[in-house]
Amino acid sequence: MFSIAIDGPAGAGKSTIAKEVAKRLGFIYVDTGAMYRSMALYFLRNGIAASDEEKIGEACKDIDVSLAYENGEQQVLLNGENVNAFIRTEEVSMMTSDTSKYKKVREKLLDLQRNLAKTQNVIMDGRDIGTCVLPDAPLKIYLTASSKERARRRYKEQQERGIECDFEQIEKDIIARDKQDMNRAVAPLKKADDAVVVDASDMTIEEVVRKFMDLYKEKS
Ligand code: C5P
Repeated sequence: MFSIAIDGPAGAGKSTIAKEVAKRLGFIYVDTGAMYRSMALYFLRNGIAASDEEKIGEACKDIDVSLAYENGEQQVLLNGENVNAFIRTEEVSMMTSDTSKYKKVREKLLDLQRNLAKTQNVIMDGRDIGTCVLPDAPLKIYLTASSKERARRRYKEQQERGIECDFEQIEKDIIARDKQDMNRAVAPLKKADDAVVVDASDMTIEEVVRKFMDLYKEKS
């Protein structure tokens, strides 16, 4: 089995690129952020405060996260319900960063993520894939871009989804989320020592996809 591990800050284009590379290579694309988002949605729906680590730990016992694929698109099932349509709001984004720092939340998803990579070729993206989930992945990429560029992309994405948003606020939220993800004690966002850095600030999607394909060819 071949695994490609992709990490990087919010809005760097990880999922767009990973989806396309998965299609070209015939790999399964695994979006681990969506799994953490589904757990955050559960906490929000049940009125559990992000600061209440004990309640969050308890609630983890009542959560079951699984994946299904529809036309190659990953769907996250939260206790059997497809929640893909509810996990992309800014409120869920921030709640996810606020709760994914807890050990119990991370433990809940680790085996699921590792097992996916045991049985099939995967391209998996997140924050701790190269450092923690798949430390032996033969290809690790740290995909980044300037915060302005990342905010611009996120703004466009939200507008296309019909969600009203403010550019300045999106940039502030992205910076706050990265800071929190990079500074947490458990599995912080960090480049793995053996990861290749790709800065996509001035690259088109096709250029980044080609770069990934070249890196894959070198390693496979
Ligand atoms: O990638 P995405 O923006 O969907 O991730 C949402 C949040 O989930 C991140 O800000 C981070 O807090 C958390 N996350 C994580 N570990 C991962 C993937 C995402 O902690 N492997």
